[in-house]
Amino acid sequence: MTSTTQDDQKHASLRTGRDYPWGCLARQWSGFLLFAFVLTHLLNHAVGIFGIEAMQYVQQWRWLIWQSWPGSVLFYAAVVVHMFLSGYRIALRRTWRMPPDEMWQIVSGLTIPLLAVGHVLQTRVAGSMFGADISYGSVLFLMWPAVVFSQTMLIVVAWSHGVIGLHHALRYQPWYRHWRIPGYILAVLIPCLAFAGFVSAGREASKLTFEPRTQEQAAGVEEVGMVVRSGVAGFAVAFVGLMGLLYLRRRVGSTITITYRGYGPVEVPAGTSVLEASRTHHIPHPSSCRGRGRCATCRVQILAGEGNVAEPFGAESAILNSIAAPPSVRLACQVRPSSDISVRVLMPVLGRHVTSDQDAEALEWAMERDAAVLVLDLRAFATLTQNRLPYEIAVLVNRFSNEMCQAVESHDGRIDVMYGDGLTAVFDQSEHRAVNARSALRAAQDMGRVLEMLNAEMRGVLPIPIRAGIGIHTGRVVLARIGDGIHQQEIRAIGDTLSVAAALESASKDFIADCMVSKETADASGFNFSGMVLREVMLDGGHTSIQAYAIPDAGRLEQVTSSSPVLGTLKLAGA
Ligand code: FES
Repeated sequence: MTSTTQDDQKHASLRTGRDYPWGCLARQWSGFLLFAFVLTHLLNHAVGIFGIEAMQYVQQWRWLIWQSWPGSVLFYAAVVVHMFLSGYRIALRRTWRMPPDEMWQIVSGLTIPLLAVGHVLQTRVAGSMFGADISYGSVLFLMWPAVVFSQTMLIVVAWSHGVIGLHHALRYQPWYRHWRIPGYILAVLIPCLAFAGFVSAGREASKLTFEPRTQEQAAGVEEVGMVVRSGVAGFAVAFVGLMGLLYLRRRVGSTITITYRGYGPVEVPAGTSVLEASRTHHIPHPSSCRGRGRCATCRVQILAGEGNVAEPFGAESAILNSIAAPPSVRLACQVRPSSDISVRVLMPVLGRHVTSDQDAEALEWAMERDAAVLVLDLRAFATLTQNRLPYEIAVLVNRFSNEMCQAVESHDGRIDVMYGDGLTAVFDQSEHRAVNARSALRAAQDMGRVLEMLNAEMRGVLPIPIRAGIGIHTGRVVLARIGDGIHQQEIRAIGDTLSVAAALESASKDFIADCMVSKETADASGFNFSGMVLREVMLDGGHTSIQAYAIPDAGRLEQVTSSSPVLGTLKLAGA
């Protein structure tokens, strides 16, 4: 047997018990489908505010999707896949220490089938197997008011389960943060409206008369109900039994030692993930996505025993590649060592004083995104402040800072760093590169205007007019939270894009220009730069270069920004 084959076999055996990426995907997509089902169901409930007739009208359309044979097949398949894979994931757990929302996901997921059984029997089963009338009015007439409590519980439990799942599945999408507030509002509004519609329609139904179910129909539903309830109870007993067996197996099975730098060794059953080991032994360990392999905040460096963990593959491999992690760095939530290893947790858990939303902030420890970066430097600052009283210098610097901040913030920019005679601003509020580039250019134009105004205001006070050089470049930046966990921590932009913007600002002196705009920014903005001179700016001590437009003054920049942007330039950030 070749060594490669031996390695393959070893890695295959080490993978046993891992949460396979296809499983994650299937669980996620089945969850999306079930969420869509619950959403349409609750919206239909909400229509009950306008009466049973309106509710039933919408129900016909909903049935076209969910009662059709493709809709039914998809729905039942999603139920089976989601239940099976979620149960499997729970069975894999080596610790029950977890954040509250994760615990609620498990509890609500196990409760939904119990709460939904009665509802399913009186609707789907009664309708499809016994031909009963299962329109809203008929079902509400039959079940009102006995079901108010259980149905309300079902709405709350199913909806919260879905919303938390959706939040964790989508939160790393670049567009998510823009939709977070409307999403929170809808997450509260939809179940409230559904409850209101349900109560209103239920009260209306109780005053009407619908054809009662025949004895055969009632008996048939009851008979099937016995079978289904026995099945659910059997499933629950089998699941609890399986969990117990797995627990016993782990208790009597082999253990391994994970040694944490700074925390020492801990002993855990073989097959435990490093993140589970941290949670079991109270070792601070960030896990922004709750161990779903999507955020990389749990990453660890393997200091010893690298051969005792399987090679990364699938989702883990993809996320490690995306952050260009060295081979010794792994995701703690995905790594289940088969033997002793030694690790170092790479990302510290943020101090509680930093933010109340620790989870959201942890994400921002290292978020990469597209941005336009503007670097501004005040020229001849030493001459400007020569022979000035400290008070005068403070007034000048503060006036300058306030005006520049306003110019940046009025165009959706953010001050990254501010020093006495300059600043770095980041424009990253849009997913569209064009929007960020235009914002930076318009901010630069405002800065030019403000400097003219300041010069007019301070004529006779300053020895020379205030002048500034500006460099603007567009590209990827890493936003990282910088600080020591005790003092104030700030989000700062890091990366080549900032260095290039700074180099352009520096080159503005050589080209006797107020502003240097990289060709990337100019192209992204869609503005017309045709009258401007394109220059070659040397970077890295002359090893590389970049093309940039030299804009002589604020007036010429205004010409550019007042040109109509070329259509079709709204590219997505990073595209
Ligand atoms: S906790 Fe998010 S990748 Fe591990």
